[in-house]
Amino acid sequence: MRSFGVGLLGLGTVGRGVYRVLQGNGEIIASRLGARLEVVKILVRDPQKDRGLAVPPELLTTNPQDVLSHPAVDIVVEVMGGVEPARQYVLQALEQGKMVVTANKDLLALHGKELFDVASAARADLFFEASVAGGIPIIKILKESLAANRIHEIIGIINGTTNYILTRMSEEGLDFALALNEAQKYGYAEADPRADIEGLDAARKIAILASIAFNSRVTFPEVYAEGISRIEPADIKYARELGYTIKLLALARETEKGLEVRVHPALVSLKHPLASVRDVFNAVFVRGDAVGEAMFYGRGAGELPTASAVVSDIMAAARQLLHGVKGMWGCTCFEQKPLVPVGETESC
Ligand code: NAP
Ligand code: HSE
Repeated sequence: MRSFGVGLLGLGTVGRGVYRVLQGNGEIIASRLGARLEVVKILVRDPQKDRGLAVPPELLTTNPQDVLSHPAVDIVVEVMGGVEPARQYVLQALEQGKMVVTANKDLLALHGKELFDVASAARADLFFEASVAGGIPIIKILKESLAANRIHEIIGIINGTTNYILTRMSEEGLDFALALNEAQKYGYAEADPRADIEGLDAARKIAILASIAFNSRVTFPEVYAEGISRIEPADIKYARELGYTIKLLALARETEKGLEVRVHPALVSLKHPLASVRDVFNAVFVRGDAVGEAMFYGRGAGELPTASAVVSDIMAAARQLLHGVKGMWGCTCFEQKPLVPVGETESC
């Protein structure tokens, strides 16, 4: 059976999950794929750190070139986060014609066009399922399963940390800071949790979804973002008394004036399906002209749900290598469409 080499850039929450799934489910992955996946090298900052994981020490390196230029690495998996140096590493891998998998929405929502252009020129591929909604395969759904639809609207709860905080505040009256602390402990939050609580992470994700859904090119700085840092327990209590809950919603829709793409807290009726999305769960509601209304639900963050998405991308990349059809998963680089200023948008 053929074997493909995987190089990991990062062994934090997501990287550990990827390593665990590749080791623990190696047999089932090999039988489904018809090839083996072998982790060849892993980039970290601190090789001495206790990761609660049995990784052979010779796999770890602090030199990115040990991963990027390793002759046995066919698929580079970027799970280190941040924009630089992740961008440089991803570009280098793509330029070398390697398949790349990333979970990095910060990078995609700012530099997606550059990365996909380089991938296309090199006939390489860039997979990014884990960049939005953790374990929910929403990228494949939009790019493949719903590809025949004209998409009218996407409304999602696409940040697990804030949904976790709002749930704990609402159901147990927990203090904001304590709830955030728990989300960090479970590995849900970004390295800088302000990205979660100020709505920036959700804005990056909705920029990615809107680009795919509307054949457009929406970048993060264009998206209006307001987070949950000003929500107080009393707001949640009064909302409940009126039959509502507060959720951080990300919304993208195509209107006659242009695209509306925004993130903000919203009152959601307790009768609406999005109201029952609790804890770290995410949900993405899509309205298309053929499919009608569809909703997708699952864990939006955390080690194993995110690894599920990353490893499925690694398998997709390996499948292309196996069949010699590189360059199949390209984006998605469309014309830029105007965004409607937020004061002129319709309400949810
Ligand atoms: P993390 O726990 O902070 O892990 C980052 C890893 O990358 C660490 O192993 C770190 O090394 C390594 N690293 C970071 N910068 C480095 C550098 N300059 N050189 C060498 N190694 C470096 O982050 P994470 O939560 O796994 O998230 C990784 C990515 O996945 C981010 O883009 C995030 O937005 C995305 N994501 C996360 C989740 C989630 O639930 N956490 C879900 C979906 C997507 P050390 O361990 O030695 O410090
Ligand atoms: N910090 C992100 C969240 C991780 O809480 O949703 C998943 O992208």
